[in-house]
Amino acid sequence: MARKIVAGNWKMNLHLKEGQALVQATNEYLNQNPVEHIDVIIAPPAYQLCQSVFNSGNKKLSIAAQNMAAQDNGAFTGELSASMLIDSGAELVILGHSERRTLFGEDDALINAKVKKALSKGLYPILCIGESLEQRQSNVHQAHIKAQLDAGLEGLAADELYRVIIAYEPIWAIGTGETASPEQAQNMHSFIRKYLSEKYSATVADEVSILYGGSVKPANARDLFGQPDIDGALIGGASIVKDSFLDIIQVGEEILR
Ligand code: PGA
Repeated sequence: MARKIVAGNWKMNLHLKEGQALVQATNEYLNQNPVEHIDVIIAPPAYQLCQSVFNSGNKKLSIAAQNMAAQDNGAFTGELSASMLIDSGAELVILGHSERRTLFGEDDALINAKVKKALSKGLYPILCIGESLEQRQSNVHQAHIKAQLDAGLEGLAADELYRVIIAYEPIWAIGTGETASPEQAQNMHSFIRKYLSEKYSATVADEVSILYGGSVKPANARDLFGQPDIDGALIGGASIVKDSFLDIIQVGEEILR
């Protein structure tokens, strides 16, 4: 069965002291309310990775990076390699977020190279995919997701898929306050699971966590988490506000199975 996950993507938000306070508050919450059914992940800005790992004494709180270079080392100004992220204590890395794709020009080939690099070094990639509003309106959203999966997972063996987490994040729902309805999300998640089953195996499809992302909040988490193919969430805005992140963790622990 797929791991159930509540993950917070802080993006370029929260300074050191604020980040530290949020990690500590999350830890305290998890110590007082141990979770059995979910893994909790936070992805702070890169310069806070070490500090977050240091402060995350609770082993239920894992740390993810938000990006990673495809190369091992060398003259790549401003980049961080997989082994540097591992050095900082990160266990996972978000790759192919739509903001990286649209604002920083990352294409499928680069994202695929990063996924492979992360896996080869022992990081768990969280591969983000999602369609634009235009694609949904012109009814090519499933074809687009299939193409992103084909390209993002290209060259991976079935046994490597067990270490990949997929985050379906429709671009039109990211940071807009507009969430995919539970039915829209479930339809796409079931499409992704069917894709994994046909391309790899029923076991792979069953084991790979498929997270939903796009304006997840305490108010909609319950309905989203109640869908059979939604294994959790990748949360932006609501993950940098202590109460809303902790509320979503609580709902996740209650509902996700
Ligand atoms: P949001 O971001 O929750 O603020 O919509 C989600 C994401 O980009 O991962």
